[in-house]
Amino acid sequence: MTRSPTSGSSREATARITIDVNRPGIELPPKFYGLMIEEINHSFDGGLYPELIQNRTFQDDGSNPIHWSPLGSAKIVLDRSEPVNAANPVCLRVDLSGDGTGGAANDGYWGIPVKPATNYVVSFYARGAGGFAGPVTAVLIGDDGTEFAKATTRDVDGTWTKYSLTLRTTADVTPTSHARFALSATGTGSVSFNLVSLMPPTYLDAPGGLRPDLMKMLAELRPAFVRLPGGNYLEGNTLDTRFDWKKQIGPVELRLGHTGCWGYRGSDAMGLPQMLLMCRQLNAEPLLAVFAGLTLRQGAVKTGPALQPFVDEALEEIEYLTGGPSTPWGSKRVADGLAEPFKLTYVEIGNEDWTDGEASYDARFTQMYDAIRAKYPHLKIIATAQVKSRTPDLYDDHFYQSPAATVTDAGHYDAPEKSDAAANVSYSGGHFRGTFTRGQVPEVLCGEWATQNGQPTPTLRATLADAVWLMGIERNADLVRMECYAPLLANVNPKAWQWPTNLIGYNAMSAFGSPSYYAQVMFAQNKVDRLLPIAVEAPELPVAPAQAPRGAVGLGAWRTDVEYKDLSVTATDGSVLLSSREAEDLRRWTFGDGQWVSHDGILKPAERGVSWGTVGDADWQDYTVHLKARKTAGEEGFLLLWHAADVDTYNWLNVGAWGNSGTAAQIAREGGRVVYGKPSTFRPQTGIWYDFRIEVSGHTVRFYVDDKLIVEAADPAPPPRGKTLYAGAGYLTASDEVIIKVVNFGDKPIDATLNLCGVWSVRPEAKLTVLRGEPGDTNSIDAPTKVAPTQETISDASAAMQRTFPPNSLTLLRLQVGPGR
Ligand code: AHR
Repeated sequence: MTRSPTSGSSREATARITIDVNRPGIELPPKFYGLMIEEINHSFDGGLYPELIQNRTFQDDGSNPIHWSPLGSAKIVLDRSEPVNAANPVCLRVDLSGDGTGGAANDGYWGIPVKPATNYVVSFYARGAGGFAGPVTAVLIGDDGTEFAKATTRDVDGTWTKYSLTLRTTADVTPTSHARFALSATGTGSVSFNLVSLMPPTYLDAPGGLRPDLMKMLAELRPAFVRLPGGNYLEGNTLDTRFDWKKQIGPVELRLGHTGCWGYRGSDAMGLPQMLLMCRQLNAEPLLAVFAGLTLRQGAVKTGPALQPFVDEALEEIEYLTGGPSTPWGSKRVADGLAEPFKLTYVEIGNEDWTDGEASYDARFTQMYDAIRAKYPHLKIIATAQVKSRTPDLYDDHFYQSPAATVTDAGHYDAPEKSDAAANVSYSGGHFRGTFTRGQVPEVLCGEWATQNGQPTPTLRATLADAVWLMGIERNADLVRMECYAPLLANVNPKAWQWPTNLIGYNAMSAFGSPSYYAQVMFAQNKVDRLLPIAVEAPELPVAPAQAPRGAVGLGAWRTDVEYKDLSVTATDGSVLLSSREAEDLRRWTFGDGQWVSHDGILKPAERGVSWGTVGDADWQDYTVHLKARKTAGEEGFLLLWHAADVDTYNWLNVGAWGNSGTAAQIAREGGRVVYGKPSTFRPQTGIWYDFRIEVSGHTVRFYVDDKLIVEAADPAPPPRGKTLYAGAGYLTASDEVIIKVVNFGDKPIDATLNLCGVWSVRPEAKLTVLRGEPGDTNSIDAPTKVAPTQETISDASAAMQRTFPPNSLTLLRLQVGPGR
């Protein structure tokens, strides 16, 4: 054990970190850190795009003016009789019946943020009918009736006219989002509205720009690229609802809006030009994903003539980004307010095309690759699944795992030990499960990754695993050239988000970074240009004693209308653990999100959504579950749980999963949920009562439908616990600094010696940044910086020092090394 005279700790060291400063290793590419965006969790509407009126064109629900309510004695109805324009066929008619005074109020994206001394730009189309000819008043009004700001138009007549007003709040307003935006009038007849807009100030005051607090937070991440526009959002559920980029440009008020794949209708206001504005304002390059003929629910378009329109579209989209003002599509970008062409280096063909059961990607990729390569030979082309006919420049690899699995997998791209000469030096390409020989393979974009623990934003435990993962891909930066976490954003109102773990949270009023956001700021703001060889010797984490799996049973639904009946659970000795009569009693159940109803022996969710509940005893081990299930509408099927211990620990059969493309067992641990065993092609049909039987024996499950075995699967072994300490180091040439990152993943402080070999001198003053807390800690709207980095300057740095790394922490040490390195 070494004891250093200039140590931060005087206890015996149990770990040793050795960094070879004399041998700068691989380069960390300038474009390594990036962002990924798509319309998920109200990332755009109710997020980055700052428009405050929700359902401003009244199309979000076919039959009701949701998010609008009548004021005074007025009645409000949707009216299709006289549209403003073809893109906006429905307007809101306010009938001034009753005492002739009234209007309509919008509740925004779960509240309208009212802030002091702020200008809000109001615009709307209005027309009067039935004798109405008065002015319209726009008001920001508190839930208690306080009028924060108010302005009135000139008299409205019988033709559609656009009105613009400014509402300014006074300096003494107490900030609140308990407010609505109201349009009201007095008179006879009716007044109709459409395209109602309430715009707060935007980032850098760009006209039609983006939400300032979110953009400031994104700028702190110093992204070099933005992967856009998705994700599943690119693919859409159907061809009609994919990201059709030509419908995402031009004036915002002429955009049609569409229902994306995350269960809500978006306005498309944050279209392609807005995403590009975001890139420009962040000084980041767009990484453009082009639609490649695969949708989530309709499968793949056939190659050849059927795919050709999409190939042409992709070429035109590239021209929209990169073409000069005299090119047909470049000129449209200029008209959208983006005069300068964008530098584009990377184009990605599709998204997660390994999901295509028909395995059509190779041919689709080839057709698109050839066309793009021919017209834009300099572009680097990214594949999303394994292809054989062409060699892509990069593969896009995605990882969503539990903390333990992330840490275990952090060496995913590490080359095997040299002694393992017989083995092919290979790695598997994440979810697409290809294997390639290192050195002969294309490079990798780690285009979506996140440790799944904490909802809707990650815990510190997830953050520490994220940091270990990031160090793992950094040390393989010769192969993994770029990375971006996903999803980036989530409106944390319970009705707004769909994906469990997201980097940045916000509501109408404010935003917060998760601990993982802060970790990523630490990495990005201390970016090195060369990695340094590092060796870490540290104790292993203690292994928890093995336990037989146990837990209750449960039922769920994934955005599908389902009904269940006759649920019973029998022990292996034949005794009844839960009778069907007991199962009908909702008081015995525990539900997460969503309410369920029990009526006439049928159990079902009260409304369509993603929800599940459990019933029974946490100690149940081996048992057989009987039940009947019927799907009445929707695109998926059933969720059948067993060994359910808590919200993060359960197994389920996902019957009719992924748009009813099959059935598989999944295991959830610590927030990560993975498929295991061999999936089946069983796809439940609507309207049929199925007899389900689930036999649970130790780690094995057998699932029968109408007495036929559909799935048999054994729980995968849990990932090994791993080490307590993980570290990475790099060099910043311009300033002769060594930057060391250390994660203590354990719950005890670790005293470590830190040796920098090959330096002549180390300046004693060094910058130390630490992110620490309890493993389950998260940030939130109410406690936005519960876990946030603290900084200090230490004065005892040396080439051989001893430091204590606090439990559950990420430490970043920035050392100035002297000349003569
Ligand atoms: O990041 C959320 C989703 O995960 C992305 O849309 C999709 O590409 C992936 O499956």
